[in-house]
Amino acid sequence: MEQVPEPCGIVIFGASGDLAHRKLLPSLLGLALENVLPKTCYIVGIGRTPMSDSQFQATVKTSLQKESGGNGRVPPGAIDDFVKRCTYLPGDYQDSAFYTQMKQKLAVLDQAHQISDRRIFYLSTPPSLYEIIPHQLAQAQMARPEGTSGWVRLIVEKPFGHDLASAMHLAQSLHQAFNEDQIYRIDHYLGKESVQNILMFRFANAIYEPIWNRKYIDHIQITAAESEGVGHRAGYYEEAGALRDMFQNHLLQLLSLVAMESPCSMDPECLRDEKAKVIKSLQPLTILDVAQQTVRGQYADYRREAGVNPRSTVETFAALRLGIDNWRWQGVPFYLRSGKCLAERITEISVQFKHVPSSVFKPLMADQLNSNVLNFRLQPNDGISLQFEAKHPGPKLCMSTVTMDFNYEEAFGTPPPEAYSRLFLDVMLGDQTLFARKDWLQGSWSFLEPLLDAWAEQKEKGLVTYPMGSWGPAEAEALIARDGREWLTK
Ligand code: BG6
Repeated sequence: MEQVPEPCGIVIFGASGDLAHRKLLPSLLGLALENVLPKTCYIVGIGRTPMSDSQFQATVKTSLQKESGGNGRVPPGAIDDFVKRCTYLPGDYQDSAFYTQMKQKLAVLDQAHQISDRRIFYLSTPPSLYEIIPHQLAQAQMARPEGTSGWVRLIVEKPFGHDLASAMHLAQSLHQAFNEDQIYRIDHYLGKESVQNILMFRFANAIYEPIWNRKYIDHIQITAAESEGVGHRAGYYEEAGALRDMFQNHLLQLLSLVAMESPCSMDPECLRDEKAKVIKSLQPLTILDVAQQTVRGQYADYRREAGVNPRSTVETFAALRLGIDNWRWQGVPFYLRSGKCLAERITEISVQFKHVPSSVFKPLMADQLNSNVLNFRLQPNDGISLQFEAKHPGPKLCMSTVTMDFNYEEAFGTPPPEAYSRLFLDVMLGDQTLFARKDWLQGSWSFLEPLLDAWAEQKEKGLVTYPMGSWGPAEAEALIARDGREWLTK
């Protein structure tokens, strides 16, 4: 993190919420500790809960202490210094007078910090406010910079829409207030160091690219398993489910990075062009595919969770097999699965290569030799490993599968930074590379739409229960076993 952005004001809508306290403010503190948060940058929390500046500062301090608990990286006094940058403004998001008041407050802060015309608005509110807030900002003349050298940027948290129509409607509505180049649609997976490393691995090394295709790769698996249940987010989750919560954004983003062509450069548009091409090349799911290539599960106690409808048919687990219709990937299956209350918290991408074409180690046949697996371990213990066959010690010709390992923390002597820190920094620097572009979003929703519709229609039918702490329903094992394969993350 070497580049220090220009001083700016950061305005967080939904500042009394969980995300702000658990992720956003700690990430900004992280940037301050790295000396990349401009010294004069100020933070304004906006929320409905009435609070004074000092009350807000006290809650921020408590959260930062909790989030950085035991973290030796936080020197004494650093939290207090950071908290001094924070102020708070309570009000009603629907009321235009509130925005006039906000504008006045920001003008005073700008002057006090000598910041001219550079501002970030972060929407971390319930999504029902994603239209009204930008609209009100535009009405109050806050959506555009006043001069030619300034900037105003809008960060939009997920979920971006509930389906294709609502996502496109939201995109259109935002465009009435902000230009596309002002909009940063967050997917925090893209801020993870291990996710960006997929690009370095693929495009900064020459040895894998020639074999990164249908000729050498048998199939690819992406697993995002969580051990926790829905916790206190049942209200949101009941409206979302695993497909909207994890697939539409995180899993399809990972898929795009693994499957994309080499971009012309790391220019944001070059990279996002290539990702958009992948998403547009996904083979559309037919009714038959929905029946045969997808699994919808719910963990055993889900309906008993606080805030969950006792007859809920919302999926907490999904698995699907999909294909990419292009020259590189034709015929290579991609298996994706994600769920809550699974055996472990682990996110991995496994690239399984084909078997050797013929065995010279008879009587072992070619398909009895384990094929190579390249594993991107995205979390925890970020790293990359390669499995290959090696000779087992001894006079006989015996084979063992061994692993070559890269572990991020061991290699670099430091844990990876918080994803939101990186993303905040990029917004301050005006770099949209790691944010979802509208056409990608449209592609991801379009791909999932038939599945979302079919599952909504089927309600109870086809929904299978799985034991908590397992790897999901047996049907997900069967989905991949039908192709003579098995899940590698277990
Ligand atoms: C969020 C989802 O986007 O990602 C959550 O809304 C999920 O349901 C979370 O738990 C997982 O993120 P991470 O970084 O812990 O893998």
